[in-house]
Amino acid sequence: MSHFLPKKGVLHAEDLALTDIAERFGTPTYVYSKAALLENFMSYANSCKGRDALVCYAMKANSNLAVLKLLAAHGAGFDLVSGGELLRVIAAGGDPGKCLFSGVGKSRAEMALALSHDILCFNVESIPELHRLNEVAREAGKVAPVSLRVNPNVDAKTHPYIATGLKANKFGVAFDDALAAYRAAAAMPHLKVLGIDCHIGSQLLDDAPLLEALDKLIGLVDRLADEGIVLHHLDLGGGIGITYDNESPVAVPDYLARVFARIDAWRASQHGGKPIKVAFEPGRSIVGNAGVLLTRVEYLKPGEEKNFCIVDAAMNDLMRPAMYEAWMGVEEVVQSDRPASVYDVVGPVCESGDWLARERQLKVAANDLLIIRSAGAYGMSMASNYNSRGRPAEVMVDGDRAYLVRQREKPEALFALESVMPD
Ligand code: LLP
Repeated sequence: MSHFLPKKGVLHAEDLALTDIAERFGTPTYVYSKAALLENFMSYANSCKGRDALVCYAMKANSNLAVLKLLAAHGAGFDLVSGGELLRVIAAGGDPGKCLFSGVGKSRAEMALALSHDILCFNVESIPELHRLNEVAREAGKVAPVSLRVNPNVDAKTHPYIATGLKANKFGVAFDDALAAYRAAAAMPHLKVLGIDCHIGSQLLDDAPLLEALDKLIGLVDRLADEGIVLHHLDLGGGIGITYDNESPVAVPDYLARVFARIDAWRASQHGGKPIKVAFEPGRSIVGNAGVLLTRVEYLKPGEEKNFCIVDAAMNDLMRPAMYEAWMGVEEVVQSDRPASVYDVVGPVCESGDWLARERQLKVAANDLLIIRSAGAYGMSMASNYNSRGRPAEVMVDGDRAYLVRQREKPEALFALESVMPD
């Protein structure tokens, strides 16, 4: 159920009118619903009940401390991709012992930081990375827990920029090289081989490719066991999509039920084989529809070929349309009987690529409020300061209360780290 619904003609976030939020915090502002976030997370957590399973929220989707703290309090682990993300988890009170560290380019410093905080596991993506991690762990007098990210070469059938499980992608160890990579890892004294993982892409509507990847991983786990390399966890990554327009993604409980059914059948066929822990790394399906970007119309600019609705949010605040030609829903906050026209919704940034939505029927006038829907994932976390624009404020709504969880950036803060050369 959406937590951004109209009441008496005005869109609300839970029980709070978005008009009130705009008044109090200004625009553009990311507005999150606590209830939506928890509902989405709990649909994973509840489906894992009674299982040896861990939901590691992929925090790159939205790494605001308030989001992390809420999820950590409900038992989430985290999938991180940088030292900075680990420091955020710690600042939010999350448990590094429930953190998986993914990414193709981990630096020595990031490895040392993660080792010093005893994270759960490094998701290693190449043989050179295994060597580096072994060395960094030796220097630290530690043994690094590792999983190999295997590229199962399945087609996730999603946008090419967010497909990651094909041979042509930079991610993971090629499926055919995985056995050799595991043998190499098992021989390194400062590594402890714990698991296997994959992440085949994002915004997947169907779970068939994920289950195909699971089958491939299961086959590998068996082959490794034959060689005496026994794995303790299997991590399927993230990827479940959300509804932006009229997509109908697989329901999370259905997907998880199918995963566990396969795992159970596999284990049963081994006559009492040891149970394996299962991990997931969902991002978008937890935060995506738990957030909107609230923006105000600055000007309407009718044109010969197109009408432009110029708003105060721009590509720097929400990159997805410019970067992936992503379709995001746009709605008026206050329903009106203004005449409808077709507009391109664009921002103030000096690029033709600065658009948020194209050819939308809107009933708007200057100064009206709009929301961009489903902006909770890969919205603020991908925002930049292009054109020296401070990033939006972020507000978390809980019932009829709103909390400012990140202040709007002041322009002065954007150049505070800079200095000029002496004359
Ligand atoms: N695990 C790994 C290793 C990942 O690389 C990702 C996302 C996830 C988990 C979470 O995937 P999700 O459940 O959110 O699909 N900026 C793009 C999406 C990039 C996804 C990157 N990796 C967008 O706005 O569509």
